[in-house]
Amino acid sequence: MSYLRILFLGDVVGTTGRVLFQKHIAALKAELNVDAIIVNGENSAHGKGITSKIMRFFKHNGVDVVTSGNHIWRQKDIYPYLNENKDLLRPENYPSSCPGTGVTLFGCKGYEIGVINLQGRIFMRENLDCPFKTAESVLTYLKSRTNMIFIDFHAEATSEKIGLAYYLDGKISGLVGTHTHVQTADERILPGGTAYISDIGMAGSLNSMIGMQKESVLSALLTQMPSKFEVDVNPPYIMTGAYIDVDPSTGKAVNIKRVKIVDQEPLVGLVAGQD
Ligand SMILES: [Fe+2]
Ligand SMILES: [Fe+2]
Repeated sequence: MSYLRILFLGDVVGTTGRVLFQKHIAALKAELNVDAIIVNGENSAHGKGITSKIMRFFKHNGVDVVTSGNHIWRQKDIYPYLNENKDLLRPENYPSSCPGTGVTLFGCKGYEIGVINLQGRIFMRENLDCPFKTAESVLTYLKSRTNMIFIDFHAEATSEKIGLAYYLDGKISGLVGTHTHVQTADERILPGGTAYISDIGMAGSLNSMIGMQKESVLSALLTQMPSKFEVDVNPPYIMTGAYIDVDPSTGKAVNIKRVKIVDQEPLVGLVAGQD
């Protein structure tokens, strides 16, 4: 029996995250022998949003699907791309009139794999459609196409993340959380065969705040005044995620493992404020 191995990487933050990703992805893919790569790109342009040029960068570097979250709307350049392509997802539970989709299928070794992107509501945008009901309704269609389905649940609260995973346990192959930019250590296979991790983290500067210069974020916390957050370009860097092995005959996950790369070397060509 041969399993498919899917690598998930957390939010790639700005130029730091992109250069770090490019430096390590080929070796990581070879070392882990992964069959597909799914990356969250919601912070890949200046820490906020993504552009069509960055989408080409991800595709050029072997990414199959790019997921996103609340920051997807920050670069308007991406709106036509979202409408015209199926390899970049926005959360499905935004109003249907928003550009793009939160559901896609991609080919992998002769199989079809489904991917759903959803956003949480707790401590986030409360008026979004219910992620539980949205997932359920999407699955009625997607399950007719494939039994291998993964969800990137872009959410703040671990309760909402594990809640959705339990709700869908046995119906999807895996649910990985994103948005906090902090990798959690709770990866496991749930009783029904769904792989789970609350958050897969990020690619960016380690001693930052979610990839941004800590001074700029601290200033906002201390003064409650608006502050322009700048992408942190300083080493050391961290790139985290997880891979999931799935059995194509059942759609059940058989293994989930965390991935963590810490890189002490200054990345070449990074200049603060010039993302
Ligand atoms: Fe993010
Ligand atoms: Fe986010």
